[in-house]
Amino acid sequence: MENTIAVFPGSFDPLTNGHADLITRAAKIFGKLIVAIAENPNKSTLFTPGERVELIRSHFSGNTKVSVTSFSGLLVEFAKSNRANVIIRGLRAISDFDYEAQMALVNRNLCSDIETFFLTTREEYSYISSTIVKQVAKLGGSVSTMVPRAVEEALKKKIGAPAA
Ligand code: PNS
Repeated sequence: MENTIAVFPGSFDPLTNGHADLITRAAKIFGKLIVAIAENPNKSTLFTPGERVELIRSHFSGNTKVSVTSFSGLLVEFAKSNRANVIIRGLRAISDFDYEAQMALVNRNLCSDIETFFLTTREEYSYISSTIVKQVAKLGGSVSTMVPRAVEEALKKKIGAPAA
C-alpha cells in the first residue's frame, strides 16, 4: 500500500506510547501517514493544538513517512483535501468498538471512497489512554511507562507530574 496516503486522526491530548506504537506500525504499511490532530473548540484539552502538534512532530522527526498537522471540521474533508483514502484508528478492547464502528460508519456515509482500517493496540499498551495518563499525572503518579519522555516532561511542566 505504498501509494496510499493514510490519516491517523485523534485528540492526542497527549500522545501516549500506545498512539506512538500505532503510528509507527501504520507508517510501515502506507506510503505516507498524516497524524491529524482534531481542533475541537467545544472540547477542553490540556495541551493546545500547537503543543500537541509539536510533541508528536518531534517524536517522529526521524520518520520521513510521518507528517503531523491539526485540522478542524470534518475528518473526511481533511482526508480528501490531503488525497488520503484511508483512516487509521486503534482498537484497545471490545469496549472501544461501539464508538469506533459508529465513527467509521458515519465517515463512510459521508464519503464512501475513504476506508477505515483498525489496528489492534499492543497488549502492553491496551490499558493506556490519554485520559488515564492525565488523571495519573494530575494525582502525582509516574506516567514514565505510558508516554514518551518528552510528553512526560511536558506534563510535568503543565501540571507538575513527576519525571522519573
Ligand atoms: O482521539 P479521539 O478523541 O477519540 O478522536 C476522535 C476524532 C477526532 C477522530 C473524531 O472526533 C473526529 O473525527 N472529529 C472530526 C469531526 C468529524 O469528522 N466528525 C464526524 C465523524 S465522527
